[in-house]
Amino acid sequence: MTESWIKHDMDFLGGRRLRRTRRTPWMRDLVRETVLTQQDLIWPIFVIEGQNERTAVKTMPGVERLSIDLAVKAAKEAAAEGIPALALFPNTRPETRSENGAEAYNPDNLVCRALRAIKDAVPEIGLIADVALDPFTSHGHDGLMRDGHILNDETIDVLIRQALVQSAAGCDIIAPSDMMDGRIGAIRTAMDQAGYQDTAIMAYAAKYASAFYGPFREAVGSGNRLTGDKRTYQMDFGNSEEALREVAMDIEEGADMVMVKPGLPYLDIVRRVKDNFSVPVFAYQVSGEYAMIAIAAEAGAIDRQTAMLESLGAFKRAGASGILTYFALDVARFLNR
Ligand code: PBG
Repeated sequence: MTESWIKHDMDFLGGRRLRRTRRTPWMRDLVRETVLTQQDLIWPIFVIEGQNERTAVKTMPGVERLSIDLAVKAAKEAAAEGIPALALFPNTRPETRSENGAEAYNPDNLVCRALRAIKDAVPEIGLIADVALDPFTSHGHDGLMRDGHILNDETIDVLIRQALVQSAAGCDIIAPSDMMDGRIGAIRTAMDQAGYQDTAIMAYAAKYASAFYGPFREAVGSGNRLTGDKRTYQMDFGNSEEALREVAMDIEEGADMVMVKPGLPYLDIVRRVKDNFSVPVFAYQVSGEYAMIAIAAEAGAIDRQTAMLESLGAFKRAGASGILTYFALDVARFLNR
């Protein structure tokens, strides 16, 4: 009685059974729609002054800030594992931070020295540098501040100078993460005039004001300085149409690639951008996302490696051309094994 009831009920499948292609590892490999490779990875690294110095970022277990000599070693290792590019972030000395962030356009600042050293020693790896003032301002904001307000057009003048010194230092991709309006066009024009036509721009186009940046701010030392929040320039997390306008404007102004940030909680935005524009779309698995996985793994709640691979695979499925991730070296090593 039970048996015939089951048989009858399954007739509607008409032979269709999706589990057939899940039976064995080789079959799953054969039908997988998207695959993560080393070439999808951009590795963000934090640099500090000194020689042979490494300091732990407490809220990001497994991540360290490196002095330039060690960053060069890390770059060699990354290149050997097939990682195409690094993104450099400086933790500048407190005495170089100021109200107007002028250290950002010092041609011998920490980022520029790191860019030159890595470009010189490891020319085969791509170098990306942020354009934004937060590692250089005493108040931790990405722009110039007057009466508690972040100034748009005045900030752009400084961002241009920052982009130019970084280009001169050998940066291959300038990545404005400041969210000022019009900065992509202004930086593109200035770089072209200065002869950096071949230096690319990856725009942090849809960058949301996010709690997930917390550990990054510890890493670059801007968090404890920050007064107020960044919601007057970074996007509101309730919006997605607006992300498309941001992306459209940045492409119009000359961005070669666009980025969505944070990553995992914003995969719907990655997909919408991918479907609406013919431009490479990157996503940033930010510090807080890294921390959630790394700390949960330390606590024994999840498996670090499988969670890392699954989260990065999700970016590929959503349509990302590549992912900035603090897991980059770990993943590349795993994939190369
Ligand atoms: C700053 C910048 C931030 C990140 C990259 N560039 C932080 C912020 O906007 O406050 C965050 C990266 C991360 O959390 O991993 N311009």
